[in-house]
Amino acid sequence: MLSRALISARPRPVKGWYVVMGGINSQNGSADWIACLTYKSTATATPSASDLDFLVAKARARNNRLGVTGMLLFENGCFLQTLEGPPTALESLWSSIQRDGRHNHIEVLSEHIVTARLFSDWDLLLDGRMDDLPRKPHPAAIAPPAMAEHIDRLVELSLNGDDLGLNTLVAGFADDGWTSDAILSLLIEPAARAMGDAWLDDLCSEIDLTIGLSMLQLAGHAVRYIPSPQTIRNSHYRVLLATAPGEAHMLGTTLLADQFLDAGWQVDMAFPTSEEALTNQVNAQHPDALDIGLSEALPRQHALASLRTTIEHSRLVAAEHPTVISVGGRLFADAVATAQSVGADHARKGVAGTSIRLAELVQQNRKR
Ligand SMILES: Cc1cc2nc3c(=O)[nH]c(=O)nc-3n(C[C@H](O)[C@H](O)[C@H](O)COP(=O)(O)O)c2cc1C
Repeated sequence: MLSRALISARPRPVKGWYVVMGGINSQNGSADWIACLTYKSTATATPSASDLDFLVAKARARNNRLGVTGMLLFENGCFLQTLEGPPTALESLWSSIQRDGRHNHIEVLSEHIVTARLFSDWDLLLDGRMDDLPRKPHPAAIAPPAMAEHIDRLVELSLNGDDLGLNTLVAGFADDGWTSDAILSLLIEPAARAMGDAWLDDLCSEIDLTIGLSMLQLAGHAVRYIPSPQTIRNSHYRVLLATAPGEAHMLGTTLLADQFLDAGWQVDMAFPTSEEALTNQVNAQHPDALDIGLSEALPRQHALASLRTTIEHSRLVAAEHPTVISVGGRLFADAVATAQSVGADHARKGVAGTSIRLAELVQQNRKR
């Protein structure tokens, strides 16, 4: 009952997705800045195995030339693809893919700039039904697991309060070469949303959900990418990471704290119960950037109007020290709300890449 409902409600890949293509190795195009895009789309006609072979062979050759890596999954008439590579290369590839008549209803699930590839070691991603394609016998070239199965498992362990099982599972992904950004954006954030759906479908209690989210938070914290002291660039920027006033779920905000600290930011946190408490803190601290997070698990649509007011008021108190304001949470991850709709400068679709994007925005702010 639980898994059936989770699968039908989740916007991410569903159980049994058919992995047909991987990226190319990381030797090519290893640039400092890597654009990363994930989308899903609907096939306009059901492709045969040889249609997929053809698509994959051509795609692999072009991706290789462009230094693009990633993965492509297909099942039940839907594609899910993650692509990563130098921003200009990805841009031209993305315009080709968008124009391609083999699919439509293209929906971007996440888009960000990162410093490391998620799929650099994934040379060829296959499942049993593509056995006619060659497999590269490199231990690091692991097939991307059927993501949905892992998400279900994460949800199950979190809702059952099995922290040992959860941490062992997540540590296993890290040992297999998954970067912490990959674990956050492909597993932990989708698992939070799946738990939110379970709660909305009355499949778990609010307490289960809250405990489950804090377990995911600890698991995400345990696999954070810890840079060596030499690689930490002290950015001298200061960020205030806050949950939206009254928001009980703090998964996104706490995972962001790891990321900003690792990137050398000065980090303050706030879990305000009222707007006044938050604006007082903004007024006292004059942060260069402020992130306000709604629940990563539940769509808090009713909170949008007050979020807009909170942002307006935060800008007023910070008038002499303009602050870049970013927002996040499931509503923004699902693209139901945008930065513009609440008057923010940036809406994060996930945690990965946020410190880099905000550093760019703070720099632009300072130049002005
Ligand atoms: C779902 C889907 C995913 C695709 N992924 C890639 C890809 O990763 N790399 C690639 O070169 N082409 C990919 N293609 C094919 C491109 O859309 C396009 O046909 C190809 O790059 C040739 O581009 P052009 O028509 O602009 O020359 C994909 C097509 C579909 C339908």
